[in-house]
Amino acid sequence: MSGEEAPARQQQESAEDKTENPPTEEPPSEAAQEGEPSPAEEPADEPAAATPDRAPVAPDEEVFSYRALFLTGYGGYDKVKLQVKKGKPSLKNAEVLVRVKACGLNFAELLGRQGMYELLPSPPVTPGMECSGVIEALGEEVTDRKVGDRVLVLSRHGLWQEVVVVPASHTFIMPESMSFEEAAALPVNYLTAYMMLFEMANVRAGQSILIHMAAGGVGIAATQLCQLLEDVTVFGTASASKHETIGQGGVTHPIDYRTRDYAEEIRKISPKGLDIVLDPLGGSDTQKAFSLLKPMGTLIVFGAANCVTGQKKNLLAVAKTWYNQFTINTLRLMHANKAVCGFHLGYLSDEDELITQTMTRLLELYTQGKIKPRIDSTYHFEQVGDAMRRMHERNNIGKVILLPEPKKEEEKPESNPEPAETEDKKEEEKDENKMETGTEEVKREEN
Ligand SMILES: NC(=O)c1ccc[n+]([C@@H]2O[C@H](COP(=O)([O-])OP(=O)(O)OC[C@H]3O[C@@H](n4cnc5c(N)ncnc54)[C@H](OP(=O)(O)O)[C@@H]3O)[C@@H](O)[C@H]2O)c1
Repeated sequence: MSGEEAPARQQQESAEDKTENPPTEEPPSEAAQEGEPSPAEEPADEPAAATPDRAPVAPDEEVFSYRALFLTGYGGYDKVKLQVKKGKPSLKNAEVLVRVKACGLNFAELLGRQGMYELLPSPPVTPGMECSGVIEALGEEVTDRKVGDRVLVLSRHGLWQEVVVVPASHTFIMPESMSFEEAAALPVNYLTAYMMLFEMANVRAGQSILIHMAAGGVGIAATQLCQLLEDVTVFGTASASKHETIGQGGVTHPIDYRTRDYAEEIRKISPKGLDIVLDPLGGSDTQKAFSLLKPMGTLIVFGAANCVTGQKKNLLAVAKTWYNQFTINTLRLMHANKAVCGFHLGYLSDEDELITQTMTRLLELYTQGKIKPRIDSTYHFEQVGDAMRRMHERNNIGKVILLPEPKKEEEKPESNPEPAETEDKKEEEKDENKMETGTEEVKREEN
């Protein structure tokens, strides 16, 4: 799609129009949602509260409506609902209005749905930390963006909507060759991977590194970034069905952590240990990571995926992860000659200069063909539960993308059709069957 493409749907007439009507948001309260049909079944592109006896509204408000996902409470997939917001969002001087084409799904949103992501405000709230789209309106002070610009957007939350209003400084111009799906897949995964590898760990040619969740969004980004250097040995843990793909992507030694002790496997190949371990798991895996480091090695802790075992919050897993959390005193650290770091992109959101510099570098690397987000699958907003299920069930290879545009009838989730994935394709077909069942399950829960 070109950047010149006309804005979609209701918005066409208003690209230059900076109307300041606040939106009429209708996030459902938990109680109000009880007994309602699943959003997956509801034709959601109808105004949410089109009741005949409502107060008269201004014509613009009547016309302008947009789809948004809401987290309505903590729990399973059914807690994320598709709603329609009415009224044009107001635009401050330094902001832009973006018509969203694609959004990224991150592990943080799985945690958020279970009430375990501290940077997501309490429900009802719209999640979404990254998206891509086309600028449709500009605040008065914005001079470095124009209507029609194709941009990717980064934010703490709130981007899973058809229309978003964000500071212009949180938008980045997409390279011409980049698709909206790729643009939505890039910010969180690649910023995280790049900053950990090049800012914190200072990865260098000839080093060795362990990347957990190597077939996931951050894992694939980190593996690609390692290829910028000569002779980096990448150990990558992933489910066995993904090994061929991650091997082709640059993982030197794929390890099936589900059937083998990955620490033992690594020691067999690299008895002296590793230069860098990226740890998104937490709990006992952080201890293993520390012990796998060579002297002068660096461990970066950046997640606690071990707390998550499925759709619903598992208190036992949370307790076990916390109980096994790795602690070390500085004296022992000194004697070990090792570095332990923590990384959290969410807490860097005020570091505009650092983010902009890094994003500029990443977009250059994309344009040079040195990095390329791998899209696992795309789901429409009404299929958000299926999208989350794909990650919870550990089936994704790369990024899961959400599309705001309504699903056309009989359209199936689109998966990456690369030939190397024949095995995975078969698995995916099985997954799709599971997904159908999963949607049924949500229906039953809601009735
Ligand atoms: N600190 C930060 O700033 C930051 C930013 C982004 C992401 N992260 C962290 O990085 C990690 C990866 O995030 P992502 O968004 O790229 O997700 P992702 O890797 O795409 O997550 C899904 C994949 O992870 C693997 N996995 C391992 N343990 C899992 C579990 N308990 N539940 C579900 N899947 C599990 C599965 O693949 P396999 O079975 O094949 O391994 C699954 O397919 C997460 O821990 C996330 O919190 C941190």
